Amino acid sequence: MQSNGSQGEVYYPSETIVANANIHDYDALHQEAVADLAGFWDRIAREEFEWFEEWETTLDDSEAPFYKWFVGAKTNIVHNALDRHMNTWRQNKVALIWEGEDGEVRTYTYRQLQREVNRFASVLRALGVVKGDRVTIYMGRIPEIIVAMLACAKLGAVHSVVYGGFSTEALRERIDDSHSKILVTADGAWLRGQTVNLKDIADEALMRCPGIQNVIVVRRTGQDVHMESGRDLWYHEMMNLPIATTDIQTEVMDAEDPLFILYTSGTTGKPKAILHTHGGYMVGTATTLKWVFDLKDTDVWWCAAAPGWITGHSYIVYAPLINGATSMMYEGAPTHPFPDRWWQIVEEHGVTVLYTAPTAIRGLMRFGETWPNRRDLSSLRLLGSVGEPINPEAWKWYYRVIGKEKAPIMDTWWQTETGNFMITPLPVTPLKPGSATKGFPGVVVDVVDEEGEPVPPNEEGYLVIKTPWPAMLRTIYGDPDRYVEAYWSRFPGWYMPGDSAKKDEDGYIWIIGRIDDVIKVSGYRLGTAEIESALVSHPDVTEAAVVGVPDELKGNVIHAFCILQQGKDPSRELEMEVKEHVGHEMGPIAKPAVVEFVDSLPKTRSGKIMRRVLRAQVMGEPVGDLSTLAD
Ligand code: PRX
Repeated sequence: MQSNGSQGEVYYPSETIVANANIHDYDALHQEAVADLAGFWDRIAREEFEWFEEWETTLDDSEAPFYKWFVGAKTNIVHNALDRHMNTWRQNKVALIWEGEDGEVRTYTYRQLQREVNRFASVLRALGVVKGDRVTIYMGRIPEIIVAMLACAKLGAVHSVVYGGFSTEALRERIDDSHSKILVTADGAWLRGQTVNLKDIADEALMRCPGIQNVIVVRRTGQDVHMESGRDLWYHEMMNLPIATTDIQTEVMDAEDPLFILYTSGTTGKPKAILHTHGGYMVGTATTLKWVFDLKDTDVWWCAAAPGWITGHSYIVYAPLINGATSMMYEGAPTHPFPDRWWQIVEEHGVTVLYTAPTAIRGLMRFGETWPNRRDLSSLRLLGSVGEPINPEAWKWYYRVIGKEKAPIMDTWWQTETGNFMITPLPVTPLKPGSATKGFPGVVVDVVDEEGEPVPPNEEGYLVIKTPWPAMLRTIYGDPDRYVEAYWSRFPGWYMPGDSAKKDEDGYIWIIGRIDDVIKVSGYRLGTAEIESALVSHPDVTEAAVVGVPDELKGNVIHAFCILQQGKDPSRELEMEVKEHVGHEMGPIAKPAVVEFVDSLPKTRSGKIMRRVLRAQVMGEPVGDLSTLAD
């Protein structure tokens, strides 16, 4: 149902949606949660999860912003994601349906998945992995990435997944920073009918960082790879050894023990290792998925993200399994070999909820309605969006063409740091295309000015979160000062995500974008500093600056400015070479769309590059105040 009120178009949920909703009264629940935040989460944690020992304190804010949740409790997220289902009928339920780009389909029941995880945990244990060790995982979208993550968590080891689209230097930096001793990777990955040479990239990265003792290699593409004797081991061979036993205990963890680190881009410098824990993250991710997508045992849930980003960690791996859901995972590109590949998957596997990014929607929109219309999409009852603001045009196409005007779109705003959905509708929430609506129950969000005062309706300001939540990051691994500085210092007591936003008269939040040096390309989060250091690692480039420029399809693209070594002349070939170099060091997503050679860069007197001036120049806009410009 749709109406045109003073706020523009509002879409109301159908009777069926309302009847099926897990949560009916958002306002009441939100008020209950805000009135007694600890009590609210205490109740949910008791009702929905299994603990080896209960907590003494639900929320300890005595050392804020180092908040602690479920203090003193013992659990393991894998106990809740796998082990506990073995005592129920769900042990024989399908946990994962995986489809390869080549059309191969594999399914795992909860029992099968648990056995695979147990065996791989035994292999890791035999290689000396113990509680607290870091393990880097670098793979494509294959079931073994899930197995590897869960096997680490089962042992109490901390996984650090590096997105399979990243390349040599990005991988090297993340392995080094985490001090991992094991790397789990694959020979290659399939993408658009081509192989991505993951093992070759890993070998090159490992030449630059010697700390890794063993590399475990999953065979996926079957391509020839170098296997370093004494260091590299095949996954399938290890899994066939007697050491790969299913007889292994799930480690008893403190609720506050680290579960994983995941690197993300920040304002300056190297990527930040965001740290999440077993207890709070488990409670937060599972509850948000259950409520926002009305998850039921009859669902086939498809989060189309890559497992190597937070979206995949939370909503491919942990939350669906904890909820005992059936999840779909697809290996390849949405349009390979035909533009209806995704719609074919929805039809064949009866997907009921699809969760993806606006950039994917826009990409599929380009092929027109005929492709989705050829397929039976009637199983879809809810849709989701994440990663960047969704433009109303894409929203409406998704709603009309894919959801057939019966599947509301849950536009979920959140971050690597938040662990779970923060600003999001529930299925019963009236929707406005382009707005992520309101805080999840218990999450108090606001839009404020420089002084921290709420801005008037429809004016832009800083997005802030005024309440703690269980799945919040606990720190930046190895750099607690940076944690305080990056998120809690601008407005003491409040979490600052780094986004700007507006709030309308109805209290709906409209996210505008990042206010820092983070660039979102196709929903992927990249930092200017990392791309710039990849640029200057090219022998002909001495200095570089990059800015994000709006793009209809990708949200933003990267525009790079480079100063060349004396004696080097700009040329089309050099431009291509520099782009390729960034692809090789950082990964294809970080490749600049444009490399422009310049003689100088605008800087402040203290030497800081004024990216604002560069961006204005690219966009043909006024450059604004130049009083701090050095030259
Ligand atoms: O700018 C916001 C944007 O993505 C950033 C977080 O990126 P990352 O940590 O990679 O996590 C992405 C997936 C959870 C945010 O600071 N963002 C995320 N979701 C939305 C969004 N912007 C607008 N609308 C959203 N729904």
